[in-house]
Amino acid sequence: MVDSASHLTDPFGRRINYLRLSVTDRCDLRCHYCMPVGFSDYEIPDNWLTFEEIERVVNAFAKLGVNAVRVTGGEPLLRKDLATLISNLSRINGLSDISLSTNGTQLARYAKDLKTAGLHRINVSLDSLDPIEFSNVCGRDVLNKVLMGLTAAQESEFDLIKINTVYSPNTSIETIENLVEYSIRNRFTLRLIEVMPVGNTGRSTGPTHLDRVKKHCQSKYNLVESIDRGPGPAKYLVSADGKFKMGFITPMSSHFCDTCNRVRLSVDGTIYLCLGQNDKYELRPLLRSGISDEDLMEAIRLAVTYKPERHEFNEHPDKIIRIMAKTGG
Ligand SMILES: C[S@@+](CC[C@H](N)C(=O)[O-])C[C@H]1O[C@@H](n2cnc3c(N)ncnc32)[C@H](O)[C@@H]1O
Ligand code: SF4
Repeated sequence: MVDSASHLTDPFGRRINYLRLSVTDRCDLRCHYCMPVGFSDYEIPDNWLTFEEIERVVNAFAKLGVNAVRVTGGEPLLRKDLATLISNLSRINGLSDISLSTNGTQLARYAKDLKTAGLHRINVSLDSLDPIEFSNVCGRDVLNKVLMGLTAAQESEFDLIKINTVYSPNTSIETIENLVEYSIRNRFTLRLIEVMPVGNTGRSTGPTHLDRVKKHCQSKYNLVESIDRGPGPAKYLVSADGKFKMGFITPMSSHFCDTCNRVRLSVDGTIYLCLGQNDKYELRPLLRSGISDEDLMEAIRLAVTYKPERHEFNEHPDKIIRIMAKTGG
C-alpha cells in the first residue's frame, strides 16, 4: 500500500515512479555506440544481485510508489531464467507495468515464456534492416534472428512492441524510411534516439540531432504531432488513422530532464541517478549486511536525494566514462 507521503520525490520536485533494472552487464552484440570491440571487463558473478535481492529491492521501490519497471542490461535475455524473475516481479503489489529492452537475438526462444510470466511490453533495438549495415553497427551478422524475435513477440501478443533505433551520423534517410515502412506494416511503434556521449563508444560516434529526420518523416508519411506525450521522454508523431506512432528521443538537441521520472539499478546493486552524471548509491553492501525492509526504503529515499537536476552531455561530453551496458541503458 502506498500513501502519498511515501512517494519518492527528488530535490527538484520530480516524482520518481519508474525503475530501469539491469539484470546483466553482458551482451552478445557490440553496438559501436555502446560496447567497445573486445570488451570483457564484466562484473564478477559474486557481485550480481541475486533474483531474491532484486525482488526485495523492487518491492521496496514499489512500496515507495514506483509502478513501472523496465528490465534491461547489457542484454537481459542472457541472464539465466529471466522469465522466473519476471514472474516473481509480476506478483509485487503496486507494479502495473513490467517491460523489457532487448536486442532481440534470443527473443524467438523466450517471447512466449516471457508473456506467460507476466511481461507486458517489449522494446527491441534495431538499427537497420540491411544485413550488412546491421552487422556493421552491431558487430554480428544476426539480423535474421532479431527479425524472428520480433515475429515471435507479435505471435505472443504483447500489449505493445516498440523498435528503438539509435540515430548515428552514419544512419541514412533510406535506413530510416525502411524502418518506418517495416513498422507500419507490422504495427510496431518506432522510436529514434540521438546518440549520447556515454563512454568512449558513445562519444566517438559523434553527436546527432533528429530535427531534420523528424520533418522529413512528418511530411513523407503524413504524420501529425501527437498530443499524447506518454510517460517517457519520447515526443511522438502519429498517422491520421492513429495506427502508426513514431517517437523521437532527443537528449542532445532538446533535453527532457525537467520531466525525468526514473532511476537505474545496475546488476551489482548500484543505483544510478542520471545517465549523464556520476551520482550513485550502492545498495549491495547494505543488502548483504542484513538491512531491514524499513531501512532499505530509507536508503532508497536517501539515494533519490542525490538525483542531479540534469545531464550535461553538451557542456561536458567527456564526463561519463562508464558504458551504457554497465549502467543499464
Ligand atoms: C544499453 S541497451 C540494453 C538493452 C538491450 N541490450 C538493447 O540493446 O535493447 C538499451 C538501449 O540503449 C541504447 N544505447 C546504447 N548506447 C547508447 C548511446 N551511446 N546513446 C544512445 N542510446 C544508446 C541502445 O540502442 C538500446 O536501445
Ligand atoms: S546497445 Fe544493447 S545490444 Fe547493443 S551492445 Fe549495448 S547492450 Fe548490447
